[in-house]
Amino acid sequence: RFLKNTEVVGHELIYLKETDSTNNDVKRLAKAGGMDGTVVIAGCQTAGRGRQGRSFQSPQGKGLYLSLLLRPRLPAERLIPVTALAGVAVCRAVKRVCGAQLGLKWPNDPVLGGKKICGILTELTAGLDVVLGIGINVAQTSVDFSPAVAEVATSLQMELGRAVSKAELAAALIEELDQMYAALRAGDLAGDLAFYRKVCVNLGRTVRLLSDGVWETADAVDIDEEFGLVVRDARGRMRTVRSGEVSVRGL
Ligand code: BTN
Repeated sequence: RFLKNTEVVGHELIYLKETDSTNNDVKRLAKAGGMDGTVVIAGCQTAGRGRQGRSFQSPQGKGLYLSLLLRPRLPAERLIPVTALAGVAVCRAVKRVCGAQLGLKWPNDPVLGGKKICGILTELTAGLDVVLGIGINVAQTSVDFSPAVAEVATSLQMELGRAVSKAELAAALIEELDQMYAALRAGDLAGDLAFYRKVCVNLGRTVRLLSDGVWETADAVDIDEEFGLVVRDARGRMRTVRSGEVSVRGL
């Protein structure tokens, strides 16, 4: 009802009132030969997953929880930007529906008011299918987050002071993801890279990097063509850090 024409994403759309994790659903679909661009949306998740083995709290009616099955038949190195591109798609969708400009905390956390508004979990299957999971905090209030999570997370409703339609947001997000997927397949990422650089909250600031248990401080200077973070370290040397290699603090 809300969807305009999309090329691939959302032609198959599955809504589940409750599930363990939409990423798990999409993984099962990938094994079963599911269609490229299939979207699974859930009302709530009983075992929502975050990165680094963390859980993602997914209470009924509060967030938009969806996962996407992409079968691009591209070599692994062409899939590196997917998570960053999904962050760009989330920013564009939120801007369209709410007018608010989110920032992106490298590598892929959409933020608003200095706190995280959305989580993105990308998983690759052995056959190089992409399982792209996105959870946007829409209607949570402070009581919906545990105290530790409330320190770092917020919702659109809390930041904007008004209700946001999950259906409209889902439709806009599916359209943005469809365009992002076309760009990925075409290898035409210049527009998304420019957008990313514009909204990235780390650039021009100091970041703290954690790699192999060691913290170091560096200046974030750019995003490279593969959406890696280019930093100048304490000794003045430039280097690029890749997502997965390091954890970044400093907002
Ligand atoms: C993170 O910030 O650590 C990533 C969180 C990803 C949450 C989404 S919600 C939809 C999809 N299903 C999951 O189990 N996780 C992702």
